[in-house]
Amino acid sequence: MIQITQRPRRNRKSEAVRALVEENKLAVSDFIFPMFVLDGHGIKDEIKSMPSIYRFSVDTLLEELREVTDLGIKSVCLFPNYAENKKDKYATESTKDNTLYLNVLRAVKDKFPDLAIMTDVAMDPYSSDGHDGLVENGQIVNDATLDILARMAVAQARAGADIIGPSDMMDGRVGYIRAALDADGHSNVSIMAYTAKYASAFYGPFRDALDSAPRFGDKKTYQMNPANSREALIEARLDYQEGADFLMVKPALAYLDIIKALNDNFDLPIAAYNVSGEYAMVKAAASNGWLDHDRAMLEMLLSIKRAGAKVILTYFAKEVARLQAT
Ligand code: PBG
Repeated sequence: MIQITQRPRRNRKSEAVRALVEENKLAVSDFIFPMFVLDGHGIKDEIKSMPSIYRFSVDTLLEELREVTDLGIKSVCLFPNYAENKKDKYATESTKDNTLYLNVLRAVKDKFPDLAIMTDVAMDPYSSDGHDGLVENGQIVNDATLDILARMAVAQARAGADIIGPSDMMDGRVGYIRAALDADGHSNVSIMAYTAKYASAFYGPFRDALDSAPRFGDKKTYQMNPANSREALIEARLDYQEGADFLMVKPALAYLDIIKALNDNFDLPIAAYNVSGEYAMVKAAASNGWLDHDRAMLEMLLSIKRAGAKVILTYFAKEVARLQAT
């Protein structure tokens, strides 16, 4: 007779036992739901490469947020889509009073005071160059960008932002923004640093949504090289020292090792951005009948959590919440 002492299958023998030994669970409270806004009224415009994700005008956004909050989602991240004629070299629209994004933030804060609103700090949605930083002679200049980013962050904080998300990857921006926020009386406003943001192909659908693709070149002088992991630790150390409250890895799925590295080495909560391309891949395969949508979605998100992300920004947030409610 064969003698096998360790039988791992015993812990898989039934639903009940499997549940006992289950190490990770997705919770709707882990999610931040990214949403897109644009100028106008009565608009709910589906993004072609992101089925079920829309660009909302402020009125339809507020309706949608009723549904989102009813599903138990407590945090959203808002991104603005500006018309081409609002964009310029200095992203001036980002700090002007009474403009789309700041008005939306005020309206959302007013109607949903308990919702945590995360905002995006980077120049690309407002920039005629489509870059996250200021362009001079074909170069993305670091230090001059910081001032613009800090003014953007302060304007957003004044409008009601709870968490500022610098997604620009300029050096020194977390500390610079932290100081500007504090000087303006917003020491309570958090910073979720896009710590390890890679120059990735998976942002394609997002750039369609915002018409924000770079007008020349690429983002490789500021976003990280997908080949590198040690560099992520340098970025994390800096963001930590500069006062970040969360460290984010982006994209998520091709960077699970980076999520784990940050989680192993830093005590701050780690976030991961399950980006537009990762969403689009599941939608496309599922609509061809090549993948089971819900199972693929849950497995992906669980892998992100298992790797060490406490917080997950995901376009799937509503769908998971709906599944968990049933
Ligand atoms: C840019 C920004 C990007 C995303 C969030 N903020 C794209 C980029 O860096 O070009 C991507 C999000 C997604 O793909 O879902 N500041």
